[in-house]
Amino acid sequence: MNVLILGSGGREHAFAWKIAQSKQLQNLYIAPGNAGTANCGTNVNIGVNDFEAIKDLVWEKDINLVLVGPEDPLVNGIHDYFLNDEVLKDIPVIGPKKDGAQLEGSKDFSKQFMLKHGVPTARYATFTKDNLKEGFLFLETLQPPFVLKADGLAAGKGVLIINDINEAKEELKNMLVDAKFGKASTKVVIEEFLKGIELSVFVLTDGKSYKILPAAKDYKRIGEGDTGLNTGGMGAVSPVPFADDAFIKKVEELVVIPTINGLNKDGIDYRGFIFIGLMNCDGQPSVIEYNCRMGDPETEVVIPRIKSDFIELLQGVATQTLHQKKYETISEIATTVVMVSGGYPGDFEKGKEIDGLDTNFESHVFHSGTKSEGDKVVTNGGRVFAITSFGTTIDEAVNKSFATAGIINYEGKYFRRDIGKDLKAYQ
Ligand code: AMP
Ligand code: GLY
Repeated sequence: MNVLILGSGGREHAFAWKIAQSKQLQNLYIAPGNAGTANCGTNVNIGVNDFEAIKDLVWEKDINLVLVGPEDPLVNGIHDYFLNDEVLKDIPVIGPKKDGAQLEGSKDFSKQFMLKHGVPTARYATFTKDNLKEGFLFLETLQPPFVLKADGLAAGKGVLIINDINEAKEELKNMLVDAKFGKASTKVVIEEFLKGIELSVFVLTDGKSYKILPAAKDYKRIGEGDTGLNTGGMGAVSPVPFADDAFIKKVEELVVIPTINGLNKDGIDYRGFIFIGLMNCDGQPSVIEYNCRMGDPETEVVIPRIKSDFIELLQGVATQTLHQKKYETISEIATTVVMVSGGYPGDFEKGKEIDGLDTNFESHVFHSGTKSEGDKVVTNGGRVFAITSFGTTIDEAVNKSFATAGIINYEGKYFRRDIGKDLKAYQ
C-alpha cells in the first residue's frame, strides 16, 4: 500500500514513523514533510492546500490512502474534493469532510452540536456585530473570568480569557466590529469559564464504531509554571494520571458516544480523528472544544503508545471495519519535550544549523520545524523538535527527554524544563 501524509510538523513525523513500521507499507510520501519525515519516506514539496498538485501526486505515485495532519485542508474541503473527482473518488482520505470539520472550523457550530446532542459543555451564547449590546448584557450575567472565542479558525489565537468586565466588553467590540481576528471573528462565542484540569482525549472513528486512543495532557504556555504567551504546545504526557479508567469511561458515555451518535443523526459521515479538549471539573468531564485532527505535540506521545499496526487501523476507518481491527496500547508512560527557536511564539530566526542529531539517544526525536540543506539540518520553524521518551514514571521518561534536548544544539534553543512536574501529585 502506498500512503501519503499531508503536513510538516512533529505530528506528521510521528505518523510517518509509525506507518513506516507497518508490514503493509510499500511507499510512503509526505507533503511537504520536514528533515525527519525524510528518514521515513519521500518528502514532496507540495503545500497541504494545493489540491490540484496533491491530485497529480496521488495519480503519479499510485497512492492508496491519504492521511491528513492539519485542520486547514480539512476545513477547506480536501475530502470533498477527492469524493467529487472521478479519478480520486475511491481513494480514502483519513479526516472528515467539510461538514464534519466544522466541529473545529466553527465554534458556534460545535457549541450548537454539543447542546443538541447533550454533550456536557460550558453555557454559552453567540453574537455578531448586529447584537453587540446583547453581548454586553450576556457578559453581565457571567462571573469572571470571561471567555471570548472567535468563531472561525484563528491559528490557535482566537480565544481570550479576561478578568475585567470592561476589558471583556472592549475586546468583544474589537473582535466583532474591528475584526480583530479578520473573518474568523465575524461571530464570537462567549462562554462560562470552566474550573478544573484540562486534558485531551482522542478518538479514531469510521463514522459508526470508534477506538478511544490514549489521552494526553499538553503544556500550552511558553514559560515554566504555565506562564507567558500561548504556543502550539511545549510538551505532552500520556497517560494522564488524573484521568483514570473510571473518568475515561465517563468521557466515553457522556461525550464520545453522544458525539458519534450526534454525527450520525445529523447525517455527517465522519472518518478520521476527533480531538476532544476536556476540562475535568471535579471528576465530571466538560468539553472545551473539538478539533477535527490529532493534536501536536500530543500525537508525539499518543502514537508511540499504540502497539497495533496503524495502517490496519486507518484501513478500518476507510472501509468502516474499525470494529474488527486489533487495537492495543503500551502501558508505559510517554513524555515529549518540545524544543523551540529563540523568540517563539513571537518573532524568531530560521536557518540555524543543528548539531548533535547523530547521537544514539534514549528518545525518539520527532522533527517539527526542520529542513535539510545539503548534508546539514537547519531550523525552519518555531517548534523545532518534539523529544519523546518512555518510562515507568513521568520523571524517568521526562529526564530522558531533557537529556536528549540537552545534546541537540542550535543557536537560540529553548525548552521547558517542567513538563510533567504538575502531574506528579496525581501519580
Ligand atoms: P480552545 O481554542 O477552545 O481550546 O481554547 C484555548 C484554551 O482556552 C483552552 O485550551 C483552555 O485552556 C482555555 N479555555 C477555553 N474555553 C474555556 C472555558 N470555557 N473555561 C476555561 N478555560 C477555557
Ligand atoms: N496542542 C494543541 C493542538 O494541537 O491544538
